[in-house]
Amino acid sequence: MGFDELEGCALVEHKAEFIVIEGQRPLFGEVYINGAKNAALSVISAAVAVNGVCTLENLPHIEDVDGLVSAIGALGAQCRFIDEHTLEIDGTNIHTHVAAYESIRKMRASYYLLGSLLGRFKKAEVALPGGCNFGTRPIDQHIKGFEALGATVWVEHGMIKAYAEKLTGANIYLDMVSVGATINIMLAAVQAEGVTVIENAAKEPHVVDTANFLNMLGAKVKGAGTDVIRITGVSALHGCEYMIIPDQIEAGTYMIAAAITKGDVTVRNIIPKHMDSLSAKLIEMNCTIEEGDDYIRVIGPEKLMPAHVKTMAYPGFPTDLQPQITALLSIAGGNCILTETVFDNRFQYVNELRRLGCNITTDNRMAVIEGVAELTGAEVSATDLRAGAALVIAGLAAKGHTTIGNIKYIDRGYEDIVLKLGALGASIRRETVATNLA
Ligand code: UD1
Repeated sequence: MGFDELEGCALVEHKAEFIVIEGQRPLFGEVYINGAKNAALSVISAAVAVNGVCTLENLPHIEDVDGLVSAIGALGAQCRFIDEHTLEIDGTNIHTHVAAYESIRKMRASYYLLGSLLGRFKKAEVALPGGCNFGTRPIDQHIKGFEALGATVWVEHGMIKAYAEKLTGANIYLDMVSVGATINIMLAAVQAEGVTVIENAAKEPHVVDTANFLNMLGAKVKGAGTDVIRITGVSALHGCEYMIIPDQIEAGTYMIAAAITKGDVTVRNIIPKHMDSLSAKLIEMNCTIEEGDDYIRVIGPEKLMPAHVKTMAYPGFPTDLQPQITALLSIAGGNCILTETVFDNRFQYVNELRRLGCNITTDNRMAVIEGVAELTGAEVSATDLRAGAALVIAGLAAKGHTTIGNIKYIDRGYEDIVLKLGALGASIRRETVATNLA
């Protein structure tokens, strides 16, 4: 804090961080993928339901994980990082079922605390979720599920409150495939009496990872990874050691970065099956893909072919790779149509890509992308996490200097992205600029 005597008003010293890229350098080498952000968030939340100690390995070191760890600390969980990627959570002394606004306001995934607290204490109060804003993102299906299990759910003073005398297993049909609702209902239902069946369940890798973790805790969850999940309730859960799966979206981001820079990158420590929809699309666009047990090598072509992409629930093309593939389609030689079927407003970043020379028009849930010969560096700003990743990818391909602002979004979900890309040969750095704002 400073004080400007001439103007007589307080000056706030503000530090803004940017990612600066000098583009058009091909990426070469190997990159190791961290644990999955979205799996980490649901598994950490699930650990709150346990009266005991859980040790979680392969956690990504990212802002969203730090935020959730401090939020469950506020509930009374004792959290200790054994090393950068291993966290011990002791939920024995969790003393409240109320997750207040201040501790969780930035995170959408905080809604998972509703399911796990409700399962354990039969009551939960959690501030309405924050997180990336791409559409209205209602949680009516989560609430429908909790109500079917016997809870009364209402919203008051910005908090979602759920109370139950007891939870009883039920048949729950989801009106749309929702990752969040599927996981949240599982979290509560594992400690309900009797059998719960979730129909039209999401099949995403982190749904399966959460179910596997719950089973390690003593839960009885069957069918995760299909669209019918059957849960037989148990009276209590116990601690365990668990390793989080690799991040499908981080892996995809580096695969696309390799393709756009005409590079040759081996993306390691992944589950190649999770990447099938992207690998198929990259092959269609003329990339060379080699697959091993836990890696995929991507060789970017001299000339990318155009393709059409439609996002869908898993095993379809992930909406969380939509902005990144849009950057790639922008320099494919022809017209491409991208259809977003999961979220209703996920094209806010397109204006930023246009600054880099992309030729994109959007209409409702569709984007028409006319491939241009070359992108050119510019000043841009991340509008959400994956939009930020798309700007990094476009910046790697653009001629000259690209400066990306608002990188707090990128830090929410990518561990060491600047270091990792630098090690692959990108000219990329973080810059902190101090500005005095009145
Ligand atoms: C999760 C992921 C997010 C990813 C998304 C889709 C986490 C923390 N986040 O978000 O990165 O982009 O899956 O793969 O894992 N919907 C409703 N009512 C509901 C729930 C969802 O209408 O009660 C709608 C949503 O508005 C959206 C669609 O269903 O249009 C899918 O949303 P959902 O799968 O629930 O996404 P999230 O769990 O929020």
